[in-house]
Amino acid sequence: MDCLLCSPILYIFLIFLWYLVRILLNRNLSFPPGPRGYPIFGNLNLRNELSHRGLAKLAKQYGGLLHLQMGRIHIVAASTSEMAREILQVQDVVFANRPANVAISYLTYNRADMAFANYGPLWRQMRKICVMKLFSRKRAESWASVREEIDLMVQTLIEQSGSSVNVGELVFALTRNITYRAAFGSFARDNQDKFVKILQEFSKLFGAFDITEFLRWMKWFGNRGFNKRLENARESLDGFIDRIIDAHIDKKKSQKQDHDGLDDDMVDELMAFYSGENGERCNDSQSSSLRLTRDNIKALVMDVMFGGTETVASAIEWAMTELMKNPHELRKLQQELADVIGLNRQFHESDLENLPYFRCAMKETLRLHPPIPLLLHEAAADSVVSGYSIPRDSRVMINVYAIGRDGSVWSEPDEFRPGRFMLCKAPDFKGSDFEFLPFGSGRRSCPGMQLGLYAMELAVAHMLHSFDWKLPDGVSSGDLDMTDMFGLTAPRATRLIAVPSYRLKCPMAI
Ligand code: HEM
Ligand SMILES: *[C@@H]1O[C@H](CO)[C@@H](O)[C@H](O)[C@H]1NC(C)=O
Ligand SMILES: *[C@@H]1O[C@H](CO)[C@@H](O)[C@H](O)[C@H]1NC(C)=O
Repeated sequence: MDCLLCSPILYIFLIFLWYLVRILLNRNLSFPPGPRGYPIFGNLNLRNELSHRGLAKLAKQYGGLLHLQMGRIHIVAASTSEMAREILQVQDVVFANRPANVAISYLTYNRADMAFANYGPLWRQMRKICVMKLFSRKRAESWASVREEIDLMVQTLIEQSGSSVNVGELVFALTRNITYRAAFGSFARDNQDKFVKILQEFSKLFGAFDITEFLRWMKWFGNRGFNKRLENARESLDGFIDRIIDAHIDKKKSQKQDHDGLDDDMVDELMAFYSGENGERCNDSQSSSLRLTRDNIKALVMDVMFGGTETVASAIEWAMTELMKNPHELRKLQQELADVIGLNRQFHESDLENLPYFRCAMKETLRLHPPIPLLLHEAAADSVVSGYSIPRDSRVMINVYAIGRDGSVWSEPDEFRPGRFMLCKAPDFKGSDFEFLPFGSGRRSCPGMQLGLYAMELAVAHMLHSFDWKLPDGVSSGDLDMTDMFGLTAPRATRLIAVPSYRLKCPMAI
């Protein structure tokens, strides 16, 4: 009889055992805690809790890293600054993808844009164009659009001095006008209403709940109505932007080579990278290896429209609402403006750096009301966070809203206290303080931060410096409803109505 130790069977058995142990060890890592789900459907019964408020509530029960199983999709919500750091900094490459459903893929020309492109070479190229060209401080035209449109708004307010103004609608119109002008210049200005309708339909479709996303087999029941709406929405966008792009191509052809580039809009800027209808190259001094298709350009324009309109408007409206709710803070800000600038001249952007308290109030607004309350990321690979397993393709949501109101980090978290940002160790929003992430952090953070902040600060400063504000007769600050609406952004659920009265001693001059 051979000795057992020499038998090859033993070695095969040992190798088998080794693999088995490894598999078992890996499987032992469990998902983050979360509510128990039903078979097949998982936690689909909680689908209405997938908002910043719903997830904040669940996090109180299950902790800073929370797992939900929605049909076939894993959802992980991070609700503390440590978890946000883990996802956006420590393992940022794993979590740099974006989730996209059928509607988003279709409406972004199969993710030909930047905001929904997965992390990779295409995204990197488009991000470079946006950061270095479109949103850069050097591109004076974008910043001029902000200034000019705000001046127009101030004029409107002067005309309505003493009467009730729908501040919410006014600032939404303002930011739409800003992005429209920055993107298209003076083209098709008369078609703006049509474009706003297209944007609104897109916004609804982006946010629409589509069951087939979570349960593939539901496709079997068909969803003709929804698909038809998607097709219609993209058709009207095509009709609109194709004309604008064609007009820009014509303009470019008819121009001399020594064009100075003044009052170029964003579409002009993007046309420099246009690869032409049949891949023929446009011969431009700026040519580089970056090439954009027509679909890329259309989708990027939509990114700017979506990224830059509602976010900024929501921030301005919330700032004004918090100040109407906290009149002593309003007085403090207005006093600072009067002390630093005086009431004998208009506010000028160079004054901003001398207004520390005002700037803290803007930060405090973004803490309490981050315009994008949930950052949406997707895992590109299996990973382990804080000892829990997060499988590939999980949707990872960072709850910026919950983090900004975390009582273990912020004192009196639900109160509007700009003074907290005056302290020297106060966090900043540049992305390295994970308890305050209104613009996100890392690779996917907001490329339009400077521009967005500029528009917000300039608009609010003008409104507070040039006007006194009170609520309409019969409304007190205690009556103000602070609920928000949840979509891609979280604007106030009802529009703010307030009464401005011109307070400068100089006549208005533009
Ligand atoms: C107060 C104003 C704004 C706020 C609070 C804001 C906030 C954000 C946040 C939180 C993200 C996602 C970060 C992440 O997922 O980690 C984001 C992404 C983005 N924002 Fe903004 N934003 C603002 C203004 C703007 C403006 C003015 C533009 C353009 C003109 C813009 C364009 C974008 C784009 C294109 C992305 C996607 C970036 C990517 O996926 O690589 N944003 N923004
Ligand atoms: C936005 O533009 C439209 C059309 O040019 C104009 O009627 C409206 O007053 C503008 N709104 C604001 C707030 O500037
Ligand atoms: C592009 O311009 C260069 C000179 O500026 C010229 O030599 C070249 O032939 C042009 N290419 C095309 C495809 O027109």
